[in-house]
Amino acid sequence: QPNLVTVADMDTADAIDLIHEAQAYKAGKQAVLTAPAYAVNLFFENSTRTKTSFQMAQMKLGMKVLEFEAGTSSVKKGESLYDTVKTMESIGVNVAVIRHPENEYYKQLVNHSDLEIGIVNGGDGSGQHPSQCLLDMMTINEEFGDFKGLKVLIIGDLSHSRVAHSNAMMLNRLGAEVYFAGPEKWYDPTLEQYGTFGDFDELLPKMDVVNLLRVQNERLTTADGQAFDANQYHQAYGLTLERAAKMKQGAIIMHPAPVNRGVEIDSSLVEAPNSRIFQQMTNGVYTRMAILSRVLRYQGLM
Ligand code: CP
Repeated sequence: QPNLVTVADMDTADAIDLIHEAQAYKAGKQAVLTAPAYAVNLFFENSTRTKTSFQMAQMKLGMKVLEFEAGTSSVKKGESLYDTVKTMESIGVNVAVIRHPENEYYKQLVNHSDLEIGIVNGGDGSGQHPSQCLLDMMTINEEFGDFKGLKVLIIGDLSHSRVAHSNAMMLNRLGAEVYFAGPEKWYDPTLEQYGTFGDFDELLPKMDVVNLLRVQNERLTTADGQAFDANQYHQAYGLTLERAAKMKQGAIIMHPAPVNRGVEIDSSLVEAPNSRIFQQMTNGVYTRMAILSRVLRYQGLM
């Protein structure tokens, strides 16, 4: 496929293929490019994991990576996203990974029949985070080997979270039972089609996966932000030591990170034996290799 912008475009077979290819890369599969391939990572929102793990994936695939800093680019002179991407294509870039604060920014690019450069969405506002979703699915698959009937709780800032939106859609598609919990003010009715809302403490002991969400401080409205009490949140919706002790045997903790330690999760649980938070990051590199490989194969570069 030419691009990867939303998990809505991905059927079950597609997702499983990408997970399997990511697992093959993790097991040592080597990529072979048929011609030089160039990538650029256009990040208009802050990132540590997604940007560096895409860079790592590009390097492991043998791609050459161009530097780009939004803050010193001509975007600051008013250049549009389309013109920025078209410029990258014109100078010979094959794949652009883009993170942007605007939901569905990618529509203006992938609906443009002129563009031949591959577009990979590194996160759009509160919309989608497909590479995070696939690395989460890889992590769950490594643990349980199947999604059917698996009980997954997505807990926290549901309305602002692109992770919640992409993971709920994909987990439901793969046959998992999806549950949601969190503050009423961050309830998101668009998620009802994928799962069931419930009480955190009632759901927790029955869950196989507890997928914590980051409190999206940068997306809270001023009123929301001023009213936010981190300690109160931790007591009501955080994975405290007391709650973690009530988790089912074999259940795992996930969080896309960055983690607000002491808010979504007690700091000592971040590296607990049943936490997969850093394994998710490791898997991110292999998942992104699989995603990029798919685009490169479409372009005849692999
Ligand atoms: N999980 C994630 O997207 O992290 P970054 O914002 O650091 O890329």
